[in-house]
Amino acid sequence: MNDIDGVLAMRRALTLSYHPADFDAHPDWAERAASVLANMIAGPTHRIVVADSGTGGVVGCGTARLDVRLPWPGGSATTGEIADMWVDPAARGHGVARAMIDDLVAWCRERGARAVTLHSTPAATGFYERVGFHVGVPSATSERFPQMWLDF
Ligand SMILES: CC(C)(COP(=O)(O)OP(=O)(O)OC[C@H]1O[C@@H](n2cnc3c(N)ncnc32)[C@H](O)[C@@H]1OP(=O)(O)O)[C@@H](O)C(=O)NCCC(=O)NCCS
Repeated sequence: MNDIDGVLAMRRALTLSYHPADFDAHPDWAERAASVLANMIAGPTHRIVVADSGTGGVVGCGTARLDVRLPWPGGSATTGEIADMWVDPAARGHGVARAMIDDLVAWCRERGARAVTLHSTPAATGFYERVGFHVGVPSATSERFPQMWLDF
């Protein structure tokens, strides 16, 4: 299995861990996802990490996305967002996810991010707290300027 197929398999397992998505009803999913992943890998605003099993497969993955903003005077407005963290059940509890998130956070930080955000699955909140994240709004800015959405 190559890295792209490995990441897609883990994305599928992650989705099914919290949502009964019907992948079989959407056979085009893998092709569409592979295309998006290839663009993420090729571009400067995403980083994809994979954890090698040591025997040719991947046992973990995670992504980071930079949300690049014009800076404030004296400060950065760029943030990072982490997503799609997954470690195969047999490989859990050995620091694989910590190593991946350390890499992703460092990558965001080196590119000027002032903070890193993510949406945790309920099961992973304890892990993220363990590696330094906290639940809540990232800064006073978010309290003064509420986030708004336009759904399509
Ligand atoms: C959450 C997940 C990525 C953790 O992977 P992992 O490789 O087992 O984590 P690590 O071994 O690197 O753990 C790092 C630390 O977090 C702790 N930890 C790991 N999972 C935890 C959990 N669910 N709750 C509380 N603490 C946890 C570990 O004990 C370890 O602590 P230590 O450094 O003090 O020993 C993995 O369980 C997983 O893939 N879960 C299902 C997918 C998921 O929910 N992903 C998150 C999507 S947002």
